[in-house]
Amino acid sequence: MAESKLGVLVHGAGWVSTQHIKAFETNPHTEVVAISSRKLTSCKARAAEAGLEGTGLYDNYEQALKHDGVDIVSVCTPQYLHAENTIAAAERGKHVVIEKPIANDLAEIKAMRDAVRLAGVKTIVSFVLRWNPLFETLKAMIADNAIGDPYFVETDYQHDIASWWTGYEDARKISTGVSAMITGGCHAADSLRWFAAKGEYEAANPIEVFAYSGGYRKGLSEEYDYFTSRWQEAPPLEYDDFEICLVKFSNGVLGKVSVNYGCIMPYTFPIEIFGNRGSIKDNRIWSHKYPGQNGWVEIPAILPDSADVTHHPFQGQMDHFVDCILSDRESHCNLEDAIKTHEIAFAALQCYETGQPVQLPLLSG
Ligand SMILES: NC(=O)c1ccc[n+]([C@@H]2O[C@H](COP(=O)([O-])OP(=O)(O)OC[C@H]3O[C@@H](n4cnc5c(N)ncnc54)[C@H](OP(=O)(O)O)[C@@H]3O)[C@@H](O)[C@H]2O)c1
Repeated sequence: MAESKLGVLVHGAGWVSTQHIKAFETNPHTEVVAISSRKLTSCKARAAEAGLEGTGLYDNYEQALKHDGVDIVSVCTPQYLHAENTIAAAERGKHVVIEKPIANDLAEIKAMRDAVRLAGVKTIVSFVLRWNPLFETLKAMIADNAIGDPYFVETDYQHDIASWWTGYEDARKISTGVSAMITGGCHAADSLRWFAAKGEYEAANPIEVFAYSGGYRKGLSEEYDYFTSRWQEAPPLEYDDFEICLVKFSNGVLGKVSVNYGCIMPYTFPIEIFGNRGSIKDNRIWSHKYPGQNGWVEIPAILPDSADVTHHPFQGQMDHFVDCILSDRESHCNLEDAIKTHEIAFAALQCYETGQPVQLPLLSG
């Protein structure tokens, strides 16, 4: 008898959902049984592109959650809806994929955490870079003591988030996007935690944050389009386009993370990791394990050098999540873990108010 597959409801039929649908359709243990969104036309478009037939299509999330055979909900809506969408799915006993950022404030995060704990469902947050081939290689090498014990890590999200992005209208506003570190910079904050821990599947615990914000794009009604190298009129960012945070971790590692929406260049995600027996700069390593080296050893791997969702390793993320569900174990990238990443961004906002270092965790319990 054929094994029955886990049914997936993809909610929010926009850009990133295309890759969630593809990954769940490719995984042998899952199938997309329903798609829901604000507009039925978007659901139809996603289903047609993916060649899906007989998939439930809804412009009502509550009804979609009742669709027969939904075991997993992929929340791909704008970030200000992630908390209520996640809570609704958890309350109905569904496992949840939560797109980043998980929520827009700490109260929402607490409510999500409580709902997920109560329901006992599995979660994964789309810090998809953890499955990037260079990230996987670096984590395996660090775990293998290639640079000894890390003591300083720097990661930077350098990306001209602007009106080219379908999600920009929500993301650019304080009420729906909050800040640059929340909307996009959370990828770099998560990578900082990931590389600050020596274990292959472990992220470090932040205990203190100090931050500055600045840049030049806040309130500016023009933006640079690097595809055409032209400045053009565009609705302004309502928050600072540049933030930089210093982070202390419980294992003694120090970190520096920035988000930079004002950079005039293509997307870049630089990584530097310093240990007491070696150093890593992007895909180059200097290690005590290679005593004869007189130049950087370069790792040929796919780098985190594209902002295009078709380039992101969602297949690895979803395969891992399905495996967690089938083997009844928690993901290293579950909601509880992702809260620690988001707390760095929320601590930065508190620091701008007080000018003082902020102690973490911000949420108790
Ligand atoms: N992990 C990653 O690397 C990554 C990459 C890209 C994006 N993301 C995240 O994924 C999320 C979505 O981003 P995106 O780029 O896919 O944005 P997007 O293209 O704007 O897609 C969002 C979709 O949500 C739907 N939506 C909006 N309001 C809704 C509502 N009230 N009820 C139901 N559906 C609603 C819209 O559907 P309609 O078309 O029906 O109006 C839209 O198509 C964001 O949080 C973003 O940060 C993550």
